[in-house]
Amino acid sequence: MTGSESGEKKKSMSENKFMGLNKTQEKKFPVKNKALAVLGSPGSGKTTTSIKLALELAKHKKNAVVVFCDPFTSVLPYVTSAGTAVETSLGTLLTAPGITQTDILKACVPIGQTEYVSYLGYRAGENLMAYPKVTRDKAVDFFVMLRHLADFVIIDCSTIFEADPVSIVGIETADTALRLGTSNLKGIAYYQTHMPMLADSVFHVDKHYKAISMLKPWQEWEAVSQQYGGVKYTLPYVTELEQQYDEVSLPDLLKSRESLKYTAEIKRIVGDVFGIGDNPADAGQKAAQKAGQSEDSRKTTRGAISFKLPFGKSKGEF
Ligand SMILES: Nc1ncnc2c1ncn2[C@@H]1O[C@H](COP(=O)(O)OP(=O)(O)OP(=O)(O)O)[C@@H](O)[C@H]1O
Ligand SMILES: [Mg+2]
Repeated sequence: MTGSESGEKKKSMSENKFMGLNKTQEKKFPVKNKALAVLGSPGSGKTTTSIKLALELAKHKKNAVVVFCDPFTSVLPYVTSAGTAVETSLGTLLTAPGITQTDILKACVPIGQTEYVSYLGYRAGENLMAYPKVTRDKAVDFFVMLRHLADFVIIDCSTIFEADPVSIVGIETADTALRLGTSNLKGIAYYQTHMPMLADSVFHVDKHYKAISMLKPWQEWEAVSQQYGGVKYTLPYVTELEQQYDEVSLPDLLKSRESLKYTAEIKRIVGDVFGIGDNPADAGQKAAQKAGQSEDSRKTTRGAISFKLPFGKSKGEF
């Protein structure tokens, strides 16, 4: 290790975590969508997908801040390695008398594997009772400032977003949303319950991207897609991903053959939503083709499914 390398290593955590965000500001580039809200039914993979999307952006040297809105079960303790210094919680940030860009930067939790991704969320053991109520104005200020600090903002919304002002404002201020639904009746039930709450034009539902998440080999795709009003992406169930989650190693690359389709879909989403990829215009399509998983082929291969869920084939309400 050279002298300068060891000096670099000795930099404090708080210095390091500014690095990626500072790089951001050096070059301005045209951006299709800057902030994405990730929504979906319980356990549909919102947190996992948010992190993987941020990591894909990092591969293109774009920094991304992932905001874990969930105040009901703090996310930081299960997505950061033991011993990670978390100086300020999202709760503290959002209930302080005023929020500054420096406060936000201080609250960003760097992750070891890449300097381009940082996290913001609640700390271990925190709950809503620990803080005064987060006001709408504070949440708006927060998201507006964050947009100026980061290249991209990914908002991992609480499942029950209606009970969490940060998620609600996050969906409202984001440029678009990715809605994840599982291929089962629980996923459908969630959307039937929650979509009416997003009917207001401030949530711009017409611009949302939709994905079936955690699709298992025996699960129906086509009928479920129709229930969700048409779905552009399919994120398959990948055992390695579940293992990464349990081992707090989501920032690592997926290596299994089973994960190829999942990774291709993540690239495709990043290409389509953020316009970031090897060739943004068709990055997503190419990635899917490489993994042998174009939307058409998926439809064809799903023709012979033995197990049928009891969904009507007609288009759903949402
Ligand atoms: N594509 C996938 N393949 C396999 N397992 C997955 C996949 N996506 C997510 N998981 C697993 O599903 C579980 C729930 O994932 P995650 O926490 O990301 O969902 P969530 O929607 O954020 O949940 P919550 O509603 O609790 O916020 C985790 O164990 C995770 O490893
Ligand atoms: Mg989650």
